[in-house]
Amino acid sequence: MASFISLLLLFNLFVHQLCYAADTINHNNVLRDGDTLVSNGGIFALGFFSPGNSKQRYVGIWYNKIPGQTVVWVANRDNPINNNSSSGVVKVDELGKLAIFNAISSPKPLWSANISATANTTSSTLSYKLLDTGNLVLRDDNQGDFLWQSFDYPTDAFLPGMKLGFNKKTGLSWSLTSWKSPDDPSTGEFTLGMDLTGLPELVIKKASQKIWRTGPWAGEGFNGVPGMGPNPVVNFSFVDNPDEIYYSHSYYNTNTFSRIMFDYLGFDRTLIWIESTGRWVVIRTYPDDICDSYRKCGAFGSCRPNNQPTCLCLSGFEPSDGGTADGSVGCVRKRDLLCGEGDGFLKLENMKFPDTSNARVDMSLGIKDCEIECRNNCSCTGYASAYVNGSGCLVWFGDLTDMREFTNGGQAFFVRVNSIEIGNSIVHSKGSFAKKKLVIILCVVIVVGLLIFISGFCYFFKKAKGRGILQRKRLQKQLLKPSPETNDETNTKFELPIFDLNSMMVATENFSLSNELGAGGFGSVYKGTLCDGREIAVKRLSKNSGQGVIEFKNEVELIAKLQHRNLVQIIGCCIEEEEKMLIYEYMPNKSLDFLLFDQTKSTPLDWKMRSDIILGIARGVLYLHQDSTLTIIHRDLKASNILLDSNMNHFGMARIFGSDQSQANTRRVVGTYGYMSPEYAMDGFFSIKSDVFSFGVILLEIISGKKNSGFYHEDPTMNLIKLAWELWKADTILELVDPSMGNPFPEQEVVRFIQVGILCVQENAKDRPTMSDVIFMLGNETPIPSLKQPAFVLTSNPNSANAFAGSASSVNEVSVTIIEGR
Ligand SMILES: *[C@@H]1O[C@H](CO)[C@@H](O)[C@H](O)[C@H]1NC(C)=O
Ligand SMILES: *[C@@H]1O[C@H](CO)[C@@H](O)[C@H](O)[C@H]1NC(C)=O
Ligand SMILES: *[C@@H]1O[C@H](CO)[C@@H](O)[C@H](O)[C@H]1NC(C)=O
Ligand SMILES: *[C@@H]1O[C@H](CO)[C@@H](O)[C@H](O)[C@H]1NC(C)=O
Ligand SMILES: *[C@@H]1O[C@H](CO)[C@@H](O)[C@H](O)[C@H]1NC(C)=O
Ligand SMILES: *[C@@H]1O[C@H](CO)[C@@H](O)[C@H](O)[C@H]1NC(C)=O
Ligand SMILES: *[C@@H]1O[C@H](CO)[C@@H](O)[C@H](O)[C@H]1NC(C)=O
Repeated sequence: MASFISLLLLFNLFVHQLCYAADTINHNNVLRDGDTLVSNGGIFALGFFSPGNSKQRYVGIWYNKIPGQTVVWVANRDNPINNNSSSGVVKVDELGKLAIFNAISSPKPLWSANISATANTTSSTLSYKLLDTGNLVLRDDNQGDFLWQSFDYPTDAFLPGMKLGFNKKTGLSWSLTSWKSPDDPSTGEFTLGMDLTGLPELVIKKASQKIWRTGPWAGEGFNGVPGMGPNPVVNFSFVDNPDEIYYSHSYYNTNTFSRIMFDYLGFDRTLIWIESTGRWVVIRTYPDDICDSYRKCGAFGSCRPNNQPTCLCLSGFEPSDGGTADGSVGCVRKRDLLCGEGDGFLKLENMKFPDTSNARVDMSLGIKDCEIECRNNCSCTGYASAYVNGSGCLVWFGDLTDMREFTNGGQAFFVRVNSIEIGNSIVHSKGSFAKKKLVIILCVVIVVGLLIFISGFCYFFKKAKGRGILQRKRLQKQLLKPSPETNDETNTKFELPIFDLNSMMVATENFSLSNELGAGGFGSVYKGTLCDGREIAVKRLSKNSGQGVIEFKNEVELIAKLQHRNLVQIIGCCIEEEEKMLIYEYMPNKSLDFLLFDQTKSTPLDWKMRSDIILGIARGVLYLHQDSTLTIIHRDLKASNILLDSNMNHFGMARIFGSDQSQANTRRVVGTYGYMSPEYAMDGFFSIKSDVFSFGVILLEIISGKKNSGFYHEDPTMNLIKLAWELWKADTILELVDPSMGNPFPEQEVVRFIQVGILCVQENAKDRPTMSDVIFMLGNETPIPSLKQPAFVLTSNPNSANAFAGSASSVNEVSVTIIEGR
């Protein structure tokens, strides 16, 4: 061991004489301005730099492979090397501390690493090493632990593997501090760190004033940060043990170049490096909208972005100034609490929880006991499940502040009111929004309908828009059915047929190989026949899914509630011993990918069929997003997940496999290379806009007959989205149309469809339409927002170091679905 170390030292010395390319620095060498330390895999470099227009010299760490120093750490941020001098040096001083000097002869360092006195820092075996994670570490070779690491002293960048929180033993706080300006890395006024005054959460502060809070940890992500959850890309984690409490994230593919920059204006921006275009793309920013501003609304007010007024009093409350003003001044109860059975709780959906300074958590209580806990103490004003999976109990006392609503995301919150208010309440939930929207649409429909009736009844019903409207009416009927959206969820237990294991074994001939339709990370799918002759598809989940029986049942019941003609129906489940199975109706028909990408083109699809299929998919997705009582994000929309009903060679009806959340909960991969939006593929965040992206890809595939992924041209970086964009820019977009489409087609309509498709795959999720916008734009000659460059970068060369491409194989491995075996 000792000889190996001295060999290493020798090697370092030798390298230094030629040119500094080592990844370590120790007693025996000096890093001068102009030299760099490069991590072993060449990912990060450490050296001297001057930011922006500054003349000052700093020592920092940046991405070695990315042009234009992207600095992620600065050592001497408040002690630069004077005035345009290149005399600075970095060396390890006699105490073993890494130190920066103005010049080699300077007696006093400008900056030095804060190594605890207990470490044996005189040992000559100490060396500072720059790791491929961007962490500069002092490792005592005799011990495994780091004696010092730059990750303990972050500046303004949060890299995978870093922590935000506290070391409970040493009191060390891990937090980010902004630069003063792009030219000045010295300590700015904004901080992003963990706040422990209430429940632990991350908070952005300007000096001591809160700007934004993430809300408490909700099991899979932060309550106030929609889109976090199990995903194929990032492991978000929150650790609270006797030694430390922190939030951290790591990429399953360690080659991802992603960083969260806390900029000098106090914005927390997540950036990803897109290799094929050679630029950083901002994929998320916090604070994001006006409702993110801390205490935008007063007490008992809830902030709703895109609404006038923005601040609304909770049900049962009114503006405290007595009337006209909105909730921004704060709200007061319309009726006093009675402190007992005379009080009730109103359920508010999709909420960011109120400030938790005066909240308490009890992870041992379920939601029922939580209500009792709150009811029994008259100063309790509200309660909620701590985690998104329904476990744990949070109770609040006193005023409720800094609440907001999300369109998707957040959690249910129960606010205490006089029970008279419960009858009076208009619950601000998504369901009621959807209904209001429907009412408006129906009114429009009636007016338009009358007009059209006058101008020709029959003509109207032949048009595609007519079908859209009929579809809406049908949905309206569904919504008018007894709604499961009441305060007491147990009243609406859904009865899903449960099949016994034995009958499943008989139906699938003991899960014989000959009955297997497909397999993937989740388990296998078998064809089966019930004793009444009905054909079924049985999805047998692998035993190590890590999901509890109750959780599984809840999930299945949720899936089973989804009923729409454009969704494949689940007909039951089987839970017995170790086995968990989902039973679907069996669809003998072909999947869309089979029809579309079949080389022989044996079943050419004309425009009518293609547009019907596109609209069918759009309706199915819309149903998941907003017409069902819950918002469901599918997360794995792709051509092979779409089945087509055939009658007499006309493939009319498209049916989507509903979102199978039991798959998500196994923390396995959901999503398929080529269909995933950039924010989901590269940062694990999902939203309804990630489904819109996948839909856009499918739309372009249906029109072009080409696969987005695995689409090769002379240019290996070419893919369908890029091709569509280039043809669009060149004004030759009709070249995209599948030559086998045959019959003359309505060019303007096809162009409009393609335009909508490109709009759906815009790089920034905010530029993408919602599914209801999509359906409207497809069916109407309406102006379509102008197109920006879409996110065609996602299918960059699979062999490149780019993270996304690297994750492709793991994604594909488990994305095998029920129909791929056919
Ligand atoms: C840097 O140089 C300028 C003039 O060249 C001088 O005014 C300033 O005081 C110097 N600053 C330091 C820190 O030496
Ligand atoms: C800084 O140094 C560079 C070269 O060392 C020189 O070209 C430049 O003029 C100097 N700038 C100032 C303001 O002294
Ligand atoms: C150095 O670390 C000790 C504890 O390890 C801490 O008390 C002290 O404040 C730190 N000094 C600086 C300058 O960070
Ligand atoms: C410190 O390091 C020196 C040199 O390696 C060694 O001889 C000594 O035992 C160490 N002391 C402790 C307390 O580990
Ligand atoms: C909810 O998730 C937590 C951890 O994320 C787990 O400990 C708990 O058992 C889960 N509760 C239920 C009801 O599934
Ligand atoms: C996620 O990270 C946490 C803490 O860093 C770790 O304990 C856990 O095993 C990781 N999970 C996965 C699936 O890698
Ligand atoms: C109600 O809760 C508050 C805040 O936790 C506490 O101070 C008070 O003692 C509780 N009252 C009762 C009757 O438990």
